[in-house]
Amino acid sequence: MSQTSVPGQGANARKAADATAAAQRAAELRIELARHNRAYYEEDAPLIPDAEYDRLFGELVALETDYPELQRSDSPTQRVGGKPVEGFAPVVHRVPMLSLNNGFADEDVEAFDRRVSDGLRDGNAPSGDLFGAPVEYAVELKFDGLAIALRYEYGVLVQAATRGDGTTGEDVTANIRTIKKIPLRLDTDNPPEVLEVRGEVLMFRADFDKLNRAQEAAGEKVFVNPRNAAAGSLRQLDSKITAKRPLSFFAYGVGELAGAPMPETHSALLDWYVTLGIPVNDRRDVVQGAAGLLSFYRAVGEARETLPYDIDGVVYKVNRRDEQDRLGFVSRAPRFALAHKFPAQEALTILLDIEVQVGRTGAITPVARLAPVFVGGATVTNATLHNEDEIRRKDVMIGDTVIVRRAGDVIPEVVGSVLERRPADARAFVMPTACPVCGSAIEKLPDEVIARCTGGLICAAQRKQALLHFAQRRALDIEGLGDKLVEQLVDQQIIRTPADLFKLGVAKLAVLDRMADKSASNLVAALETARHTTLARFIFALGIRHVGEATAKDLARHFGKLDNLMAASVDELLVVPDVGPIVAQSIAIFFGEPHNVEVIEQLRAAGVTWTESEPAAVAPLPLAGKTFVLTGTLPTLSRDEAKAMLEERGAKVAGSVSAKTDYVVAGAEAGSKLTKAEALGVPVLDEEAMRAMLAAL
Ligand code: IVH
Repeated sequence: MSQTSVPGQGANARKAADATAAAQRAAELRIELARHNRAYYEEDAPLIPDAEYDRLFGELVALETDYPELQRSDSPTQRVGGKPVEGFAPVVHRVPMLSLNNGFADEDVEAFDRRVSDGLRDGNAPSGDLFGAPVEYAVELKFDGLAIALRYEYGVLVQAATRGDGTTGEDVTANIRTIKKIPLRLDTDNPPEVLEVRGEVLMFRADFDKLNRAQEAAGEKVFVNPRNAAAGSLRQLDSKITAKRPLSFFAYGVGELAGAPMPETHSALLDWYVTLGIPVNDRRDVVQGAAGLLSFYRAVGEARETLPYDIDGVVYKVNRRDEQDRLGFVSRAPRFALAHKFPAQEALTILLDIEVQVGRTGAITPVARLAPVFVGGATVTNATLHNEDEIRRKDVMIGDTVIVRRAGDVIPEVVGSVLERRPADARAFVMPTACPVCGSAIEKLPDEVIARCTGGLICAAQRKQALLHFAQRRALDIEGLGDKLVEQLVDQQIIRTPADLFKLGVAKLAVLDRMADKSASNLVAALETARHTTLARFIFALGIRHVGEATAKDLARHFGKLDNLMAASVDELLVVPDVGPIVAQSIAIFFGEPHNVEVIEQLRAAGVTWTESEPAAVAPLPLAGKTFVLTGTLPTLSRDEAKAMLEERGAKVAGSVSAKTDYVVAGAEAGSKLTKAEALGVPVLDEEAMRAMLAAL
């Protein structure tokens, strides 16, 4: 609350005014949060990013703490999740499904650990050497999906329920049964009377992308993120639809248990689950004290982008069950656990304008100019909107409040608009008809999504980008040739093509902005070094469309000499590993353009040289002659995808295991093929090992 002093009023009057304002704001927040709860939990279509929800929620918690008289039992701060949706039978949770308290900063974690150890010390019977010894925690991922309770009676799955409001959820048994990763029967001869497994249903990112592509092709609505796709898929009234949706599951907790002893620790519970055939994520650990918690957080943070599914943090749980029981619960969350969240990857801001940028190949990219916003750990003022179709599809207008996403090193992007906050004067984006840099026509071919400037190298933007590409570290590696310098060189018409670079002298450079004798002679020296390069770097530096660093290496190895590459036909290009029709075509077009050939001649004349070799004999594919058998469900790859990856490298993929099989790749629920492989001593790989093998080839 902002404290404004009102002249002529006493302190009491001021206090009363603040309290009234607080009550009003709390009422507004309750209504707004209730609306977002409905959108998130009941309609699976959130209106705002989670971080924005958390902010509003935090504001209400703060008000209710400062003004305890505002606390009400029906406040969103006292409830978990949403109301059950009509159409599913209600399920009353015998053990309530609670939420987790959140922490964001290291200090939150240290405070949590302190509360836990103090809480355990205050207990009447401190266990053993508890005084001073760090608390033991089970640590795991915080999956971004939806919570589910699976009830097994005598080892058979009899009921599955969503969390709902924590007390009553929805019966989604029919839908859950379609998820192949969830066993219908526990893998044990001695099942407990009742075991209620709790965990998260989620969708892997690759599956999500595939689903959205299919939705789009079918003219159906696309999902905003994997979490919503998972929630929307699970809460289908027709389980035939759910069956077509690629859902996954990881267990992380327990509800009711009868007829078997409760494992003494959380980690032992999850180990037990593994033996029962219940999917549990491998990335979990047992650590000691706050230091252990924080180092797990950091390790997972580093790996986050490489995980095939979304997580929004990690979860810490006191490992010992008896200690958990002693710590107990506060209103909506256990005292023994904490969700340590990663910085939000999505945030709201205002879209001030949309400008277009011209890329190296003339591609026109609409770029959002944003009111500065802190997201994914950095302040963002620009974000890509990809292309015109995307802007329409996402229904984004200038003036809108937009959701910006920045995940890891990926370029920030605008995900969509908050339609209910659209101002009356919002403007639609209109693609310019002329290039903002050179004035040439902008053209979009009928079957392409990308609009392009038709100016080619007469377009200064394309020339600048081409020069920067040519000079970059992985190309000719001309140290000191940055964008500010290229800008001046092109704008003042000092250079036109990469070959002109090598004609630059110290005198010409030293007079430029931000340049002095020293930096000028450094650049000249850098150019001297860059003059001698490798064929692969030279090919990459040319900036041929679709020819990245790896393809450039393949081409250099295959053709040995630049002249061979320049003379190659599309058919000859297609022989090169990883070169498909689009790439081959693009290379042929590039060398078919007289001005490109001319630039290469000029570069040669300017003394640029590269190492050449004899063309490589066409090498056999690395897995030629090897036979693989696939069995079970792999964690991220479909069988077809795994097969394609192996076959691309020359392997044969067979249907049954024999003494001639070289490797078996096994996933979850692998059956007789795995047994046979083990009997025959055939090496067995999991998906990760297979990927590692292919990567090493
Ligand atoms: S434990 C009593 N563990 O986060 C605590 N929850 O904010 C019950 N979640 O509803 C939850 N990963 O949907 C737990 N490893 C994990 C989790 C996890 C994701 C979700 C779950 C829960 C929400 C709590």
